[in-house]
Amino acid sequence: MKTQLKKWLIGANKTVRDTLAQFEKNKKGILFVVDKEGRLLGSVTDGDIRRAILQGKSVRLSVRIVANPNPYSLRKKYQPLDTSTLQFLNDNNIMYVPIIDENRRIIDILSLHGQIPQKIQTNGQSKNNRVLVTGGAGYIGSVLVRLLLQRNYRVRVFDSLLYGDSSIRDLYGKKKFEHYIGDTRNIVSIREAMENIDTVVHLGEIVGDPACSLDREYTVSVNYGGTQNVLFTAKNMGIKRFIYTSSCSVYGFGEKKFHEESIPHPLSLYARTKLECERLILSDTIKNFYPTVLRLGTVFGWSFRPRFDLVANFFCLSAVNKKKIILQSGKQWRPFIHVQDVARAIIKTIETPISTLDREIFNVGVDSLNVQLNELGHIISQEFDGIPIETESTNDDKRSYQVDFSKIKKKLNFHSTITLKEGIQDLKSHLEKGEAKDILPFSSNLQVLLKEEKE
Ligand SMILES: NC(=O)c1ccc[n+]([C@@H]2O[C@H](COP(=O)([O-])OP(=O)(O)OC[C@H]3O[C@@H](n4cnc5c(N)ncnc54)[C@H](O)[C@@H]3O)[C@@H](O)[C@H]2O)c1
Repeated sequence: MKTQLKKWLIGANKTVRDTLAQFEKNKKGILFVVDKEGRLLGSVTDGDIRRAILQGKSVRLSVRIVANPNPYSLRKKYQPLDTSTLQFLNDNNIMYVPIIDENRRIIDILSLHGQIPQKIQTNGQSKNNRVLVTGGAGYIGSVLVRLLLQRNYRVRVFDSLLYGDSSIRDLYGKKKFEHYIGDTRNIVSIREAMENIDTVVHLGEIVGDPACSLDREYTVSVNYGGTQNVLFTAKNMGIKRFIYTSSCSVYGFGEKKFHEESIPHPLSLYARTKLECERLILSDTIKNFYPTVLRLGTVFGWSFRPRFDLVANFFCLSAVNKKKIILQSGKQWRPFIHVQDVARAIIKTIETPISTLDREIFNVGVDSLNVQLNELGHIISQEFDGIPIETESTNDDKRSYQVDFSKIKKKLNFHSTITLKEGIQDLKSHLEKGEAKDILPFSSNLQVLLKEEKE
């Protein structure tokens, strides 16, 4: 490897402390995270490190936890950059771009200093950068909005704040951030929130099998009725991009790997509402409207609104509080994906040219994270000093599905980057610092809705 290039790179096995030391050598304020083969996995700026340290993250953590896993890069034979690309890079304060070969190995770093014409530098915002996120205060939404802000998007959250607003409160008053408190079932407030918006990411629903079973009528009114409103209003207002987060739980149960064309077998009301919404969204043939359905795997990892009703997070919490993990059978398959990777996949979809997205469904995840729950239990047990795993004889969980993720990799060039082990280590460090204590009462959708029903 050329010495020049070496100073731009930091190995994925390095810590935040190692990264600080490397910044001393590089003096450019940015490093690119690579695996052993030199393949690009992310970028990290001195600002990312400062923020992580201010948030109390340990300098012993892996650099990948603080890195941006989706940096802008160019392929080996890139064309000279056109004005709109330069505009985009300028808007996003990107001054150094790694050039990668067909295996994502970094072969050079392109410096944009002196390349951005004055006209562009003062041109203001690029197009398509105003994003409405329904459910933006939720588990996925609160991670997504921060990533969007980091990438210089204007972000508007629309949320009924079922689980409070502590996940986004620190964003109030920030430039480029707005929030509307509202319910998707109210078409007037949805309409107001969609003024001057280019892209809608629709996350705001009742989420999870237990929470959806609590009051079936309410669930259908929010998940189907609310989605219908959001969809109808977006089309009516001429918004072109519409991203709907469905779920791999629509596959239900099966022995073979499911791909996007497989016949779904939803086993719960939650999964059925997701499938019905997909059909509603994709059945529309109106011109100049480009909806995309993302079927997310089973999400895990720390968020600004942590959810401990998700299996991997729940096992980690149980490891801390009960010093054991309890499995039901353990043979069920799930396709895991870290919440940060979900946010990246959504952004990747927003940034993919509209002409290549043709009312499509993408499974979102990575094949290597199709894991049986007993394997998940073992990974977590190892991270928590070998705590015991107990297996119950009953099994209420009939879902089991492995999923094929080749389409999103091929068509959107999306690779999820955070492994189960890394995500669990990060979650563990948050739990051990006691960060979940105040928010635990809001961290299970079912428990919050149950409480509201009783009151
Ligand atoms: N977390 C997962 O494992 C997972 C997996 C697959 C798909 N998804 C999908 O991703 C999306 C987000 O999931 P999440 O895990 O962030 O859930 P979440 O429950 O943490 O967040 C949902 C957010 O939507 C808001 N909301 C609910 N009803 C609303 C309404 N009527 N109007 C406005 N806002 C409303 C809630 O207040 C909450 O902030 C959902 O559509 C879910 O089906 C999640």
